Amino acid sequence: MIRTDNLCRRFHVGDSWVHALDSVDLAIDEGDFVAVMGPSGSGKSTLMNILGCLDTPDDGRYRLLEQEVELLDDAELSRIRNVHIGFVFQSFHLLPRLTAVENVMLPLRYSNTDLLQARQHAEHLLTRLGLDDRLHHKPNQLSGGQRQRVAIARSLVNQPPLLLADEPTGNLDSKTSDEIMELFTELNRGGQTILMVTHEDEIATYARRLIRMRDGKIEDDSLN
Ligand SMILES: Nc1ncnc2c1ncn2[C@@H]1O[C@H](COP(=O)(O)OP(=O)(O)O)[C@@H](O)[C@H]1O
Ligand SMILES: [Mg+2]
Repeated sequence: MIRTDNLCRRFHVGDSWVHALDSVDLAIDEGDFVAVMGPSGSGKSTLMNILGCLDTPDDGRYRLLEQEVELLDDAELSRIRNVHIGFVFQSFHLLPRLTAVENVMLPLRYSNTDLLQARQHAEHLLTRLGLDDRLHHKPNQLSGGQRQRVAIARSLVNQPPLLLADEPTGNLDSKTSDEIMELFTELNRGGQTILMVTHEDEIATYARRLIRMRDGKIEDDSLN
């Protein structure tokens, strides 16, 4: 599903260059569940952003689902982001004025789904994630775990083959974190490919494979 060769990303900071990614070779198969760990600043988010087509490498190649990502134009990239990739962030990124259902429906606005169908699909997903009694609540009326469930529902609404999550439990207490990880496990059992960044060992134990990064490089990549 994913293959990178010699992926490099550097940033000019002050008078010097920071090598956020330094020649990363990575292959991820369909159905995998991968945790990415490593100290702060080791390049985890930079890697996720490139894999999610939110950022482009300075060097190297990235193939996603048989497509050479660096050859795609902006329109094709945004189509890939919308159709093939679901994102979950530490800080949820929900729109505060919209209800749970409306937040989940958002990605469907850019596809040609009709509104009634979109609403039913969003309600169905939220119900599946245990939020059937919170459909019409706004984010500030929901707990952290409920907000993250809404964000996960939104990320899955287009049925993307790849789910990317950058510290998805970073703002959650440990009980709620475990619930989110059980949800990820269940999604993965259903075939969802998942790549998540975490700095917590306990969260990483849910994944099947563990990648450790340091100084922009993959230091270790092994089964969990
Ligand atoms: N937009 C940017 N501009 C300058 N430096 C950046 C930028 N993004 C990331 N970096 C630097 O690249 C390195 C890796 O960052 P990041 O991928 O966010 O690490 P992590 O997610 O593992 O904490 C860090 O040294 C960070 O300061
Ligand atoms: Mg980060």
